[in-house]
Amino acid sequence: MATINNLVENVIGRVERAEILDGPANAIADVVGKLLPPGPVKNLLSGTGTGHPAHPIIVLLPLGSWASAFFLDIAGNSDGTSGDAAAQRLLVLGNLSALPTAMTGLSDWADTQGAERRVGLVHAGLNVAALGLFTASVAARSAGARRLGFLTTAIGMATVGASGWLGGHLAYARGVGTDTTAFEVAPSDWTDVADVDDVTEKPVCVDIGGVAVLLVRHAGEVRALSDRCSHRGGPLHEGEIENGCVVCPWHGSRFRLTDGVVDRGPATRPQRAFEVRTVGSRIQVRPAPDPGSLRNEPVTGAAAGPSTALP
Ligand code: FES
Repeated sequence: MATINNLVENVIGRVERAEILDGPANAIADVVGKLLPPGPVKNLLSGTGTGHPAHPIIVLLPLGSWASAFFLDIAGNSDGTSGDAAAQRLLVLGNLSALPTAMTGLSDWADTQGAERRVGLVHAGLNVAALGLFTASVAARSAGARRLGFLTTAIGMATVGASGWLGGHLAYARGVGTDTTAFEVAPSDWTDVADVDDVTEKPVCVDIGGVAVLLVRHAGEVRALSDRCSHRGGPLHEGEIENGCVVCPWHGSRFRLTDGVVDRGPATRPQRAFEVRTVGSRIQVRPAPDPGSLRNEPVTGAAAGPSTALP
């Protein structure tokens, strides 16, 4: 197992450090960024309205269709019945649904940087190759070249499987699509952070127990949100205040100051809100209740609560 892990880490490490990919990756990402500015279309492709990224959901359409066609090929061969017509239709369905799926992925990918952007480029390249193979398979089957159709479908499945592994690496190892504040552990008690006169309509950033918190006065009230943008970690205190929201300076997500709710994507998760109170001339904050275990039961670090013995 260790050998396989070493091999996999070696391969992914090479891709992540392959600066040669930066030229084409950045050029494509610039174009995508210009075509998809913050707004309704970007919201739709990002999955902003659903609270989670759209890409991992919509990939079910092409992957499910292609995989079903592949298994029909196998089942049809093994029991003497033919699933050729159904497999052909599934391949076409998979190929057609690949277009909107690619758009959601491109939108997410354009907001990444560095290693994530390089891996994403290879992920996209493998998907294009797989789509070419499935298209070739449809053509071969239409021409009566049944074996060639089976072969190109099988190679396409292997290709899209490798691509899926890279997609999993982006999500699970590099956190693309994950709420970047999910592991922030702020002190649960009231924490003194600033003098009343120091909090104005220009956002500032304070640190409580290693967690950056944005403070701003708006409509006469002091508001506090996690400063790290839930999308890709942008510093919200450097953003503008607009219609009761703070605008992330990196990709333009907009969060309501009152409760952190996403007013505009590409972010899909709200900013963690903090409760605010004034004691004398001082501002104090504490995180709003959150049932997430990693925020409440950290196992290491200064903010960890009482240790719990494993059974
Ligand atoms: S980091 Fe992307 S919108 Fe904030």
